[in-house]
Amino acid sequence: MVAIGVDVGGTKCLAVALGADNRVIDSLSLPTAPGIGVVEEVAELCTALALRVGEVATSLGVGMPGTVSRDGVVYLAPHLPALRKLPMREQLAQQLGIHVAVDNDATCAGIAEWEMGAARQCNHALIITIGTGIGAALIADGKVVRGHHGFAGESGHHIVLHGGEECPCGRRGCWEQYASGTALRRMANGVSGEEVLLRVVKEDAEALIVLEEFASWVALGLLNLVNTLDPQVIVLGGGLGSSAVLRHFVADALSQQMPPAELRPAPLLVTAQLGPEAGAIGAALLGREVIA
Ligand code: BGC
Repeated sequence: MVAIGVDVGGTKCLAVALGADNRVIDSLSLPTAPGIGVVEEVAELCTALALRVGEVATSLGVGMPGTVSRDGVVYLAPHLPALRKLPMREQLAQQLGIHVAVDNDATCAGIAEWEMGAARQCNHALIITIGTGIGAALIADGKVVRGHHGFAGESGHHIVLHGGEECPCGRRGCWEQYASGTALRRMANGVSGEEVLLRVVKEDAEALIVLEEFASWVALGLLNLVNTLDPQVIVLGGGLGSSAVLRHFVADALSQQMPPAELRPAPLLVTAQLGPEAGAIGAALLGREVIA
């Protein structure tokens, strides 16, 4: 018996099969299907992966890149604009006949890092995923903060510059327009975030300037969150966020922006430990919780 978790991203859907000992037995991915075709695709991934590992899937958890209500309705996913108020949990449960949980992708990744990764045994943690967008999982007083609807942690859409860059969420000046992988590419005139980091390691002066500027935007958003939540640890994850080089620059920028340490001790800033599968692992953990 396995728990299946699927992380739906802007370009790729990644599924993992999680054994009872929380080890990933196998994984499978597909390019994200357009529009609401994603529901069918998630169901297919779940069935195909269970078949491949020769087990029965007892539960499915899905991480979606947007606001997901507590009852598993995807309200809005800025990078998958065709999805509006999609009752994903209900549709998948009907189709597959197993327990299904649907939650925000960063919440899923955060739960995985909290239960078995970089934020283990931390009662106050902030897990920030930096990729195409920015997502956040908030752990406060030993609990995941979900908010009234389940929409808490939309930190990528904190406005950091009034009237700033246009965001796919419909507003301007959101944090993710300055501190995501997409933003870094724009700041580096089309050079990918990965390439910027490589160039920095090779001491390329131009890349260094861009990364310093980028890191200061990341730090600015983190400082706002530190003031809101007072975390003990901040975990940087996601495609770009998991980089040790980025962590180093962000730590520097954050220490410059924080009040003096004797007045406000800085949180620990660490990189995520579970790699690109964190979101799918967390989704599988959540799906399993539904049964427990
Ligand atoms: C969405 C979040 C999501 C994040 C990472 C943001 O644009 O609003 O819900 O967690 O991207 O995918």
